[in-house]
Amino acid sequence: MAKVMVMEHPLIQHKIGIIRRTGTSSKEFRELVGEVAMFMAYEATRDLKLREIEIETPLAKTKAMQLAGKKLAVVPILRAGLGMVEGMLAMIPAAKVGHIGLYRDPDTLEPVEYYCKLPADSSEREVFVVDPMLATGGSAVAAIAMLKEKGVKNIRFLCLIAAPEGLKKLQETHPDVDIYVGALDDHLNEHGYIVPGLGDAGDRIFGTK
Ligand code: URA
Repeated sequence: MAKVMVMEHPLIQHKIGIIRRTGTSSKEFRELVGEVAMFMAYEATRDLKLREIEIETPLAKTKAMQLAGKKLAVVPILRAGLGMVEGMLAMIPAAKVGHIGLYRDPDTLEPVEYYCKLPADSSEREVFVVDPMLATGGSAVAAIAMLKEKGVKNIRFLCLIAAPEGLKKLQETHPDVDIYVGALDDHLNEHGYIVPGLGDAGDRIFGTK
């Protein structure tokens, strides 16, 4: 079964507490989403492989550590996932960025695919799929299925806020995908919004409401 890690770091919890508030402006919201994504990238890369290499400092030859495992990629689910990309790249600047476009049909709440562009060697990479909100789980499940169809084998999923319903669905459908969650909320309402949540993450990031 997939590992689920709910972030307990006080800075993550504090920042998510500000992000949630109605009075937080788009500017602050964007900045904080980026900061939380950065901290989450730090936590989600704890187990990356290292190798020892020889280096020269100005004073002596010595041994140092270097990342040695698979190359990395960040794949935001459009559009709200874009808000997490910069923060992720602040931690893993060599990662390539793919994009997956899905929207939720307002009536069925089912994900509909409209765009997918990935780095050519994605099947060789450790891929971090990012979306601030894991609500019904429909988009995350569909996005990860798309990645797997394109040969991606190593996938992790990061979100700021998850609903128990979405978490369960993602865990059950993709048991090989580890899930990193900033905060686990109470439930989904009848419109598919996470409660207490933060509202519509895309609208709040891009100021479209
Ligand atoms: N997407 C959002 O942006 N917010 C929710 O609460 C659920 C899905």
